Amino acid sequence: MSEQPAGTFASLWAATSASTGYAALNADLDVDVAVIGGGIAGLTAALALKREGQTVAVLEAARVGTGVTGNTTGKVTSLHRLAYTELAGRHGAEAARVYGEANEAAIQHVAGTVAEEGFDCGFRRVSNYTYAESDNALARVREEAALAGRLGLPASFTTEVPLPFAVKGAVRFDDQAQIHALRYVQGLARAVDGDGSFVFEDSPATGFRDGSPAVVYAERGSVRAREIIVATNMPIEDRGIFAGRCYLHRSYIVAARTALPPLDSTFLSVDEPMRSILTIGLDGKSYVLAGGEGHPASERHESTERYRRLSSFARDRLGAGEIVYRWSTQDAMPADGLPFVGPMSPESRHVHVITGLRKWGLTNGTAAALILRDMLCGRRNPWAAVFDSTRAVRAPHAAPAVTEDAAAPAPSPAGAAPVRADLVPGKQAPGEGRVVDVDGAKTAVYLGPAGDVSAVSAVCTHLGCTVEFNPADVTWDCPCHGSRFSTDGTVIQGPATRNLESSPAPADLS
Ligand SMILES: Cc1cc2nc3c(=O)[nH]c(=O)nc-3n(C[C@H](O)[C@H](O)[C@H](O)COP(=O)(O)OP(=O)(O)OC[C@H]3O[C@@H](n4cnc5c(N)ncnc54)[C@H](O)[C@@H]3O)c2cc1C
Ligand code: FES
Repeated sequence: MSEQPAGTFASLWAATSASTGYAALNADLDVDVAVIGGGIAGLTAALALKREGQTVAVLEAARVGTGVTGNTTGKVTSLHRLAYTELAGRHGAEAARVYGEANEAAIQHVAGTVAEEGFDCGFRRVSNYTYAESDNALARVREEAALAGRLGLPASFTTEVPLPFAVKGAVRFDDQAQIHALRYVQGLARAVDGDGSFVFEDSPATGFRDGSPAVVYAERGSVRAREIIVATNMPIEDRGIFAGRCYLHRSYIVAARTALPPLDSTFLSVDEPMRSILTIGLDGKSYVLAGGEGHPASERHESTERYRRLSSFARDRLGAGEIVYRWSTQDAMPADGLPFVGPMSPESRHVHVITGLRKWGLTNGTAAALILRDMLCGRRNPWAAVFDSTRAVRAPHAAPAVTEDAAAPAPSPAGAAPVRADLVPGKQAPGEGRVVDVDGAKTAVYLGPAGDVSAVSAVCTHLGCTVEFNPADVTWDCPCHGSRFSTDGTVIQGPATRNLESSPAPADLS
């Protein structure tokens, strides 16, 4: 069996939350706004609209918060590494200022919601640091601190950085926060459900129709609404071609026990390899989180090695003890650095989208939800133009080609064409997954630790790329736009909305 890295494969947040149990949608329903996706973006929008007197229905494919939000680090901050230097360079200082203002307002919105609704989600005010270890990085943090200060953000440059290892300096933002994001969104869901509004779980939307009314379709019911919000992280039914304007970026986190009390600060490095640090006290135990090892989802994962490097960093630099949890997730990165919020496409009339949260969705997703609340209530929002979903992206990201399988001719009859050597089924170790040819069909075959075999189609149900096995997470991942599937083919993360079909297993794996 392939060797697994240390720690249970689960996010600290999932491991320390009760599970939710909202019913699945099994009827036809009418509400004012239908929201697809129960992460921070969708649920924040849903609650904000409910507070405006609208009825809402949230459809979540799995359980609320179990997407990217439940696998986050938990920083609620407007300091996004060196974002202001980057955004001012690309879009001008005013756009950078608006981005900062929106993210600061999002922190206040989260703080206000926690206080008003009484959520028990570990919301804590902290300072957030982007730190420098090299001279080059030091110059960059100085620049970022000066620029962010001019943009009206709570920024300063400092050489006093409360890390257990020496660094040269940092930009510090005060009055930031950290949060147990899964407990937060579970709280949002509780506040949404009831009084004519609904949360449905285990209810993947299979499609939607724009119009009056607009309709969201699910397997056992539908929701008719005035407006639809697609908040599935990467949009399903991607009519705005966000797959060409965003790319998926994956990162890894380990959580270790520590004897040290939590710091009143969170951290991110400028120098590579980038490292993200957060400490937290939860249910009487102290943990330190180390994150990083990011890469485009289209690149090879080598996830086992990545977890090992993070574990070494946590032990060597942060004095961490036993690694108890490890997990990874991915977020949509906008090619020009700004999130996309607004109509799904220039032609959309009642379908709106939130995506491209650039790995800072606890604030960007909150700000995005507030933009949509204002739009759907007919109010002007001061950030909407900068986050405009219909803008052209000057240097679009070249999405990985999807033609190889999507455009491939139908499989030839068994035996008609030679099978590529690497696709020939053969000896497979327990815990290993391989894509092999079974009777002319690319098949994703996983051999479980106890010798049980799962075989599903290896053709991603989004646009037809071939999935790849991720040994550390034991998932089938699509390199094109980041859909992920469990070994039995169930969708874990979109944009795919349909499971991988079950397939005949190869005759002999020994
Ligand atoms: C490793 C890592 C660390 C991060 N750390 C931070 C951080 O510290 N601070 C920060 O601000 N941001 C952070 N982020 C980013 C942040 O977590 C995300 O931007 C944010 O959680 C995204 O929220 P979302 O609502 O868009 O997506 P999600 O939380 O993924 O929610 C989308 C939901 O839609 C559901 N869905 C998908 N398809 C369908 C369908 N067909 N029908 C119904 N439902 C569907 C999914 O199941 C999912 O629950 C991090 C990102 C990564 C990758
Ligand atoms: S082809 Fe788009 S996610 Fe797989």
